[in-house]
Amino acid sequence: MIKELFAEVVGTGSALPPKVVTNVDLERIVDTSDEWIYTRTGIRERHIAEEGEPASKYASIAAERALEDAGVRPEQLDFILVATVTPDTPFPSTSCILQKKLGAPGAACMDVAAGCSGFIYGLVTADNLIKTGSYKTILVVGVELLSKITDWTDRGTCVLLADGAGAAVLRASEKKTGILGTHLGSDGNLGHLLHMPGGGSLNPATHETIEARYHYLKMSGNEVFKHAVQVMGDISEKLLDVVGLKREDISLLVPHQANLRIIQATARRLKLPMDKVYVNIDRYGNTSSATIPIALDEINRQGLVKPGDVLVMVAFGAGFTWGVAALEWTKLNTLSS
Ligand code: ACO
Repeated sequence: MIKELFAEVVGTGSALPPKVVTNVDLERIVDTSDEWIYTRTGIRERHIAEEGEPASKYASIAAERALEDAGVRPEQLDFILVATVTPDTPFPSTSCILQKKLGAPGAACMDVAAGCSGFIYGLVTADNLIKTGSYKTILVVGVELLSKITDWTDRGTCVLLADGAGAAVLRASEKKTGILGTHLGSDGNLGHLLHMPGGGSLNPATHETIEARYHYLKMSGNEVFKHAVQVMGDISEKLLDVVGLKREDISLLVPHQANLRIIQATARRLKLPMDKVYVNIDRYGNTSSATIPIALDEINRQGLVKPGDVLVMVAFGAGFTWGVAALEWTKLNTLSS
């Protein structure tokens, strides 16, 4: 008989560039104010990488911390998934670069491009790879250096975007625990609302594309906001139904950190009090695919969850893409282990 397998999170890690940029610092760059940024987004400060630093630098620090937390050696990894829209280079993939940095020979490597939903896409991919029985130990990283594709003259985006990395190690278990249920979806018709027009085969880098500022992220913030609020609430409710969980079963909601008002609206939709919602956007801004694994690592290291608790992670991002995963926490948290 084929054994049914489940994916447990056995270790987490995160890494942030040391440089902190406050809202007051941004007042000196664009026409904005600390008051506007904080009341519209919930952000107070963010971490920004130095010139010359690649995404893989922070991915590898986060991954090493996750491996150490899991008690897993790099050479035990079967698969490395890196979610990012700011890879070191178009190719080789950042996951291959990370494999070399970690010293994980033989592990399969794949990058996942799903915008802010990237970590959930990676987690769902890892869950399904584990279920096949072909892979036992998988590293999933969400890393972004959004500062590298930020137009620092555009106040509508530069106050939101930030840099960071988070990682989780998943391991196969025969117990029905760990990832309990997932859902992913996309709508390519709305891609133009959040995109970077330059740098790919459509608009490779030329003097003209650089002058036209095609190599920066462009966003219709208001439109993205409306869709994010609708979709994050819809898919969280849908997943609870599919998995057979009630709202009261959620120990902690871990939403993508794009805007505090989006997070609050999602919590209202799920009728969850804000003390059951993890928020760190005030300190880190929007680090896209890294927000959820950074949050997961803080939750683990601060001892905010115990075995048996259920976390619901939900994200929405460029594509548009969206994803949600319910995770039963199994590991003793880093504080108590
Ligand atoms: N400082 C001061 N004023 C500003 C700023 C700023 N930084 N940015 C915009 N404004 C102004 C606008 O110009 C506008 O002025 P006007 O009324 O004179 O035209 C006014 O503020 C209101 O602008 P809105 O865009 O309507 O403001 P809104 O309340 O929607 O907030 C925001 C904007 C914060 C961008 C919001 O729409 C949002 O958070 N959207 C979602 C962002 C998101 O989730 N992105 C996805 C992830 S990014 C990724 O995938 C990498």
